[in-house]
Amino acid sequence: MHQKNKLWAGVFNEKTDVSVENFTASIHFDQALYQEDIACSIAHVKMLNKQKIIPANKQKKIIDALLKIKKKIEQGKMHFQNSQEDIHLAIESELFKLIGKDAGYLHTGRSRNDLVATDLRLYCLVSTRQIINQVVTLRKAIVEIAQEQKDTIFPGYTHLQSAQPVLLAHHLLAYESMFQRDTDRFMHAMDRANSMPLASGALAGSGYNFDRDFLAKELGFQSLTSNSMDAVSDRDFVIDLHSSIATCMVHLSRLSEEIIIWASKEFGLVSINDQYATGSSIMPQKKNPDVAELVRGKSARTIGNLVQILTLMKGLPLTYNRDLQEDKEPLFDSINTVINSLSITKGLLKALTFNKKTAANLAIGGYSLATDIADYLTIKGIPFRESHNIVGKIVQYCTKKNLLFSELSLDEYRQFSKKFNKDILDLDAMQSLKNRNLTGGTSPQQVQKALKKAEVQLNKLMKKN
Ligand code: ARG
Repeated sequence: MHQKNKLWAGVFNEKTDVSVENFTASIHFDQALYQEDIACSIAHVKMLNKQKIIPANKQKKIIDALLKIKKKIEQGKMHFQNSQEDIHLAIESELFKLIGKDAGYLHTGRSRNDLVATDLRLYCLVSTRQIINQVVTLRKAIVEIAQEQKDTIFPGYTHLQSAQPVLLAHHLLAYESMFQRDTDRFMHAMDRANSMPLASGALAGSGYNFDRDFLAKELGFQSLTSNSMDAVSDRDFVIDLHSSIATCMVHLSRLSEEIIIWASKEFGLVSINDQYATGSSIMPQKKNPDVAELVRGKSARTIGNLVQILTLMKGLPLTYNRDLQEDKEPLFDSINTVINSLSITKGLLKALTFNKKTAANLAIGGYSLATDIADYLTIKGIPFRESHNIVGKIVQYCTKKNLLFSELSLDEYRQFSKKFNKDILDLDAMQSLKNRNLTGGTSPQQVQKALKKAEVQLNKLMKKN
């Protein structure tokens, strides 16, 4: 585009240096906003006509041309160049090419500052809806696997040291709880994005008799931004989305980390189906959990992106500053990353085979029923601290003799406390689970309740989306 064609060049006599053109251009990434930009322009033109600022025939002419431009972009026939600067100017210039002088009405009472803020809010709304769909789909897969595994006993860890047996379903539902909170966070992020900045102008509002309610309704926003200066420079909705994405990625990363541990030969709790495992180019025996490792790795960039937007915003005076153009690439990156990570994690979970026998053995390894034995004594009247101490001694005894609790005779138990009766020999992992029968606990009954609850919630969400 020649300098004299630049839409803002009235006051300029000289051509922009090419290096400046290249440095300031955002068209190579903000073209992702073309749908939102055209939607805003169509709503704006309709409003201009409704308010009798432009006649109906011009409205039609401009809208028809905007729709043609949209098609051209979708067919890959628009050749974006840095000289066009950004998606807003690229579309407007194309409009001039198509309809000439009447294109000049489009920017009436509008600035790229309120336009880009509106485009970005719309983009966040659409993307967050996609993210929520992916979260809900993953949650459904988790609940299905938990249902299939509702009787599988699994080792529970604290400090990554064998701690107490749990149901595998209970372990999986811990992630359902995390992703449920993520769903709420994403919904909240949508609420934050759901205010319309248009007609805030460059910063001070618009001098025409615009109908902002009409614009909001046309574009599907639930409210209007309440201060024009804030509206053109606010990116809190971007921060909120980044923060929700980073938190969700942290959850995915933790799940990935567990899958990596479970899949190691040393733990042997799961095997990963060949379709979701990768090999080593040198070690023929290897099957690696690269998918999980990459999800864990990619969480880092979403955390980095959250820090980027916070840092970007913290020194900005009101109102719009060109720094704000830097809000987009990391946002697009985080949105793509979380959508891909959610989707691949669902596939990975379905590609896991849990090794129930190993799980059952590990679940009672490391004297993980020690707390249950202490509880047994306490229920028989011994203060817990004393029971704890007695069982500590039993563990020492077993360790020395290389025995499991299940290999102890009643006589051996009674050497440590006369409160032990025959029923102590019935204690096993399932009994331990059944004992934990409070809301939120790992007893089969509670887990069944939690599964039902999750299913009901997810069905509701599926209907809503
Ligand atoms: N490309 C710009 C951005 O993304 C659009 C707004 C430009 N506004 C301006 N006054 N230069 O932030």
